[in-house]
Order: sequence, then structure tokens, then C-alpha cells
Amino acid sequence: MIALGSDHAGYEYKEKIKTLLQELKFSCKDFGTHSKDSTDYPDFAHGVAQAVSSGEYDRGILVCGTGIGMAIVANKHKGVRAAVCESTTAARLARQHNDANILTIGERITGWETAADIVRTFLTTTFEGGRHKPRVEKIHTLTNL
Ligand code: RB5
Repeated sequence: MIALGSDHAGYEYKEKIKTLLQELKFSCKDFGTHSKDSTDYPDFAHGVAQAVSSGEYDRGILVCGTGIGMAIVANKHKGVRAAVCESTTAARLARQHNDANILTIGERITGWETAADIVRTFLTTTFEGGRHKPRVEKIHTLTNL
């Protein structure tokens, strides 16, 4: 189950990602925003990150203008590993090496075709484990987040 959110600057991609997730047979919940009216990205990043942090949702996807603000906010939540991805390579490695559980995308940065490929890659790539496992664990044990 995917938690999905955006601010006004990521609204169009959020709507398109919702359709893409339906095509890919992933169920999702839309945490807003629900129009292009100006909003504050932390309001939506906190909602999605909390949903992932609690374990209620497996993964999250957040879209804003750059993806940066969403990632900064989401990474304040315990157990969250949010990655801003501007390429499919970054999305693949964020999953394989970092076990990222939230993807953030910048609608003002990344073209739609690439963004759609990033979403597909993020959702279908598994964590490699092995040498990456203790590194990922250290993220949380050393910060208590
Ligand atoms: C909104 O103008 C913009 O600042 C926001 O979407 C995001 O890019 C912040 O990181």
C-alpha cells in the first residue's frame, strides 16, 4: 500500500502517479493536496511520512517543485529513508543500497516520462541487503530516528 502526497507544485504529477499506480495494480491512498491552490509542503510530507513510519503503509511517494523540501521533512520521521530521485539510476540504487521507503520527485525538475520510469523502478526494485544492511541500520541507531 502506497501513501501518496504533494503540494500545489507537485499536484499534476501526483494525479498522474495515481493513475500510473492503478495501471501497475498498486493500491494507494492520496494524502493531498487536492488542488493547485498554494499550500505548504510540510503539511503533506508529514502526513505521508507518518503513515510510512507507523508501518501502516509500505512505501510513500511525495512530489513538490524540487522534491527537496518533501525529503527534508520526511527524513525527520523515525524509520523513514526518503530519497530525492531525478533519474532511474538513482531510484534503483536508492532501493538496492539504501532501502529507501519514500520516493520524492520534483515536478519542476524532472520530465514526466522520466518521473514515471522513476516511480516504476522505485516500486519494483528490491533491497540488496548484505553489506548494505548494517549501513542502513546505522542510519537509525546513530540518530534514534
Ligand atoms: C513551492 O513553490 C516549492 O517551494 C515547493 O514545492 C518545493 O519545491 C520545496 O522544496
